[in-house]
Amino acid sequence: MVRTVVWDDESVVLIDQRRLPQEESYLRCRQPAEVAAAIRDMAVRGAPAIGVTAAFGIALGVRRSTAEGAALRRDLEGVCEQMRVTRPTAVNLFWAIERMRRRFAADEPRGGAAVREGLLAEARAILEEDLASCHRLGDLGAELITHPSRILTHCNAGALATAGYGTALGVIRSAARDGHVLGVFADETRPYLQGARLTAWELTKDGIPTTLIADNMAGHMMATGQVDLVVVGADRIARNGDVANKIGTYSVAVLAKENGIPFYVAAPVSTFDLTVASGAEIPIEERSAEEVTHHGGRRMAPAGVAVRNPAFDVTPSRYVTAIVCEKGVARAPYGESLRALAEA
Ligand code: MRU
Repeated sequence: MVRTVVWDDESVVLIDQRRLPQEESYLRCRQPAEVAAAIRDMAVRGAPAIGVTAAFGIALGVRRSTAEGAALRRDLEGVCEQMRVTRPTAVNLFWAIERMRRRFAADEPRGGAAVREGLLAEARAILEEDLASCHRLGDLGAELITHPSRILTHCNAGALATAGYGTALGVIRSAARDGHVLGVFADETRPYLQGARLTAWELTKDGIPTTLIADNMAGHMMATGQVDLVVVGADRIARNGDVANKIGTYSVAVLAKENGIPFYVAAPVSTFDLTVASGAEIPIEERSAEEVTHHGGRRMAPAGVAVRNPAFDVTPSRYVTAIVCEKGVARAPYGESLRALAEA
């Protein structure tokens, strides 16, 4: 199994996802600024993986500080801010930062050494809990797949996007273990190609039969009866069940509904944001024009053309058949079911 984020010898080690699938190489971050840059520049990506990485980045920053008392708290706030500004949409980042802040406050009365140990223990706990959540929600999601099925997924919600196993790909892995995966369609996921580069890499490595398609082929596959269900991950789930996920997810959900195909979302509770009433309040990251105009370093569009590159979209909850988390399966009305699971 791929190790997405590892703490080793006072540094954060990440599989460099920008280099996949050509090269399996690792990036060693010895400074919190390097961890922040790795998140911003997509060496590590995927909502839970970003949260886990930021937690280790915060632990690293505070462990490298020799300050005590109020000065150590200022250093904590500085490194939290470094992490906070990396990417705006995945709520797991802000959830992890808050958890690290709370741990700091709990250990602060016992002094700097206790704080430094405590923060590392908390980051390790966040990683282990995410891994356990992925296995649990994978198994719960697999229970929804009662017979051998053809599954479509979008982007990469796999081991690479989490502490391991994955959310949407966790469901697929558990279903494959149960003999219920006939095949997976992986949307390539333009413009950053997480589906082509990462999902296809992970699933074929696991021996799960995978077929890569361009995003604009999903509707055809559904309309011609080649897809039994869709499962995707999420970057943030609002109180009413609206789901922010990789750009293109909304189109897939609408197509699924049009074709009478279940559309499942798999995400841990750390992806719920019950402070936002609906998807309209979720900030959508806008990335560089070059991701759209260029491919493999080569220009594919005329210089000077106007470009938009929203990295995520919001799927209204009316298109979501169910949301699977580690505590159970939520269905509409999501206002009630998500709260009940979050508080369980
Ligand atoms: O821009 P990315 O690659 O970080 O976007 C990732 C996604 O949209 C994933 O589907 C989402 O984070 C769920 S990961 C378990």
